[in-house]
Order: sequence, then C-alpha cells, then structure tokens
Amino acid sequence: MSLRVEDLRVYYQTLEGEVKALDGVSFAIADGEIMGLAGESGCGKSTLAQSIVRLVPPMKLVGGVVELDGEKLPIDDFEAMNRHRMVGVSIVPQYAMSALNPTRKIGKLIKELLGARGISYRAKLPELENRLQLVGLPREVLDMYPIELSGGMKQRVVMVISTLLDPSLLIADEITSALDVSTQRAVAEMLVDFRDREIVKSMMVVTHDVSILYQIADSILIMYAGQPVESGPAEVITHAPRHPYTQLLVGSLPQVGVRYDEQPLSGIAGNPPGLIDPPSGCRFRPRCPFASERCESRPPLVEIGDGHSVACWKVMEEEDARV
Ligand SMILES: Nc1ncnc2c1ncn2[C@@H]1O[C@H](COP(=O)(O)OP(=O)(O)O)[C@@H](O)[C@H]1O
Ligand code: SF4
Ligand SMILES: [Mg+2]
Repeated sequence: MSLRVEDLRVYYQTLEGEVKALDGVSFAIADGEIMGLAGESGCGKSTLAQSIVRLVPPMKLVGGVVELDGEKLPIDDFEAMNRHRMVGVSIVPQYAMSALNPTRKIGKLIKELLGARGISYRAKLPELENRLQLVGLPREVLDMYPIELSGGMKQRVVMVISTLLDPSLLIADEITSALDVSTQRAVAEMLVDFRDREIVKSMMVVTHDVSILYQIADSILIMYAGQPVESGPAEVITHAPRHPYTQLLVGSLPQVGVRYDEQPLSGIAGNPPGLIDPPSGCRFRPRCPFASERCESRPPLVEIGDGHSVACWKVMEEEDARV
C-alpha cells in the first residue's frame, strides 16, 4: 500500500470558530494507482492535499493517521516532514503556476531548490534535461524567466520540479483547471506517463471536474463537506455510482472532456453547508431528495462491492434488502 489515511481530521482555526474542513477522512492508494479526488468547490480537497505535505496554521491536526509506504508521516511537524517532502511525497499545489518566483530564471530556481536539500544541480542536470524533454519542453526554458513561459509551459515546469526527486506519491491539485482543453489533455497524459515510467509510484489527482478523471484515474474518491461519501474503481464511480450526491455530481456532467466553471453545480439544488457548524448526521441531508429520519445520524462508509464503498443509509438499506 502506498498511502493510507485513517480518520483524518483537520480544522482551520478562525475568529468565527473551527472550520471542520476534513472530518473523518479514510482511504488508501495502492502502489501504481492513480486516485482521483473530486467534489464541489469547498469540500476540502485542497485541505486534504495540503495536509499530507505541509500542514501549517491556521490548519490544525485534530486526529487521524497518514502512512506512506508503511511509515507514519509526522504531518503536523513541519521540520520532521522535510525529510519526506519531494522524495516521499510531493505536491503540485493549486495556483502553483503563479507561485514561481518571477525574479529567478527557471534553472536558477531549480538550483536553489536542490541546493537547499544538499543536492548538486550539475549532477542532476542530465536527468533534468531528460525530464524537460519528456514533457515536451526545450532545454532553453532553464535560461528563461517564468514570465516568458505560457501557462501550459509553466505548469509543465512545476510538474518537472515536483517530480525531479522521484517521489513515491505525487499530489496534483487542480493542475489542469486553468488550462485550455487541449493543454488539459496533454497535461493529464503526462501524469499517466509519469506513473507508467515509474517516476512516481502513485498519484492523487485533485479536481472539481470529474470529466478529467474519466481519462486518467484508476479509482475515484468523492468528498462532500469535508467527508468521503463514495469511493471505488473509476469505472464504477462514473458509470454506476450509488450515493445520491455522486449520482447528481456525475449526472450533472455537461459532456465528457468539457469543463464547467468552479461553481455550485447547477444540477444539484442548494449549496454545500458551512463547515463551522455543519449539519449533524449525513451532511448531504439538507440537499438530498431521499433524506429521512435515519439520516440524522452519520452514515458509515461501508464496502458494498469490490473496492466500492458508500456512506449512505438508503444505499445500506437497499443492500440489506438484497441479501
Ligand atoms: N485558510 C483558511 N482559513 C479558513 N478556512 C479555510 C481556509 N482555507 C480553506 N478554508 C475552508 O475550508 C473548506 C475547504 O476548503 P478547500 O480545501 O480549499 O476546498 P476545495 O479545495 O475542495 O475547494 C472550505 O469551507 C474553505 O472555506
Ligand atoms: S444518508 Fe440519507 S441524506 Fe445522506 S445521502 Fe443517504 S439518503 Fe441522503
Ligand atoms: Mg481546492
């Protein structure tokens, strides 16, 4: 098992109260697996991605365990995590493109980054050039400033940097969202290529746009309001989802390969709940067409098929009725 996350709870401390952005999240990613993480904007995807790599205030670890390749990660100890970043787990954060230091040429920037880890730029240069070639970038980008690159080129540079030390797990947060459709496809294919070439062992691809996951994910985890509601093989989640939220989410896809803006889904009435004082029981209850009294307690995530788990009382009753 590459990554194992057990009952993870991460809250943001704010003046208004604690934002329960991750409230009991469990899942696993197998060696060689690309897991897609999807759900509406604000459901906690970036918080999950960040928590595993750099959990910093106002985030607070409230509970849970994260294991990478069988070793427990000290996710709430920023210093201790240095040993794991870029070699164990690496992230391409949301908005990474705009985070490239504009005053540094790409090569210099990479040199500094490697230097901070005691790694010689010269020794790594041949491999760096290989990787640039792999993502279709000329060697010359090393002598260029970020402003001289297009959005798609910058995204590829960030991908090359974050995978240069062959991390076991790569987390990519909305890396295709700011790109046009054809560049999106190219970047998605590169991610698969990184896995196929075993540059990274496994991957978590975060997106609010499920359609991109049709193309690349082996498995998909759907989150709602800080909690997992359904997970399973990509084929099952996209073609035979069981949770009412997933059904609406997947059913509201305009067309495979076409992205919609990061907005509440038009196909699902209402908005996700606030996470300072979320509804008790099933958090989807206020929007769910099937809600009833039983939904006032939180439904557990239960495996109903091969690797397919759902957190919903209605589904559980249907399963019970079948046996
Ligand atoms: N720095 C922060 N301080 C307080 N609340 C935050 C902060 N960042 C995110 N949140 C809240 O945490 C929840 C999850 O956010 P996020 O993980 O960014 O969602 P997603 O990536 O799925 O859009 C949201 O309710 C958001 O408002
Ligand atoms: S547990 Fe109840 S409210 Fe939640 S999704 Fe299932 S039927 Fe709807
Ligand atoms: Mg996000």
